[in-house]
Amino acid sequence: MTPIPHLTIVEHPLVQHKLTLMREAETSTAVFRQLLREISQLLAYEVTRDMAMTTRRIDTPMCEMDAPVLAGRKLALVSILRAGNGLLDGILELIPSARVGFVGLYRDEETLQPVQYYCKLPSELDERLVIAVDPMLATGNSSVAAIDLLKASGATNIRFLCLLAAPEGVARMKAAHPDVPIVTASLDTRLNDQGYIVPGLGDAGDRMFGTK
Ligand code: URA
Repeated sequence: MTPIPHLTIVEHPLVQHKLTLMREAETSTAVFRQLLREISQLLAYEVTRDMAMTTRRIDTPMCEMDAPVLAGRKLALVSILRAGNGLLDGILELIPSARVGFVGLYRDEETLQPVQYYCKLPSELDERLVIAVDPMLATGNSSVAAIDLLKASGATNIRFLCLLAAPEGVARMKAAHPDVPIVTASLDTRLNDQGYIVPGLGDAGDRMFGTK
């Protein structure tokens, strides 16, 4: 199977249609959340497309066969708090046995660097496919810090799943972690002065949780 490239933009019509609905400022919190759940499953399908497989001998009603099944340890999903949580439910519906970790980072207002305030990760990360999830890859600072943390915790096979990416964030991730493929629904135009993705969809956490 061909290896997954560094950047995959999922141009499937269903993904693009749902993303347009999510971008619209008038879309309600409930609809935004539902669309995020649906789109997360379509993105998860892409990010897992080359997972390792093996076979298991099974009996069908007709005969025995060596049937394909996933190989190795259960994969790990790691949510980058808080917006990453919006992607978890949908992916867990698709991969119910996945292990789940959480990484919390905030931005120090003086240094502008991400500071870790929470970290809880599944065991044996070195033996799992680890998918870090955050809807918005903007500056890339927190994403890079989260991947640093995953690698320091033993992960070697990591992917990054996001809804939207800015060119600045993709470049920052590629420079810091060229081994981590990114799967996204869109590569948007740019970041604005406040670090928001343009055209984007605003603050993903606020839109999914109804906060300001
Ligand atoms: N985080 C968000 O929620 N939105 C952006 O546009 C950038 C970062």
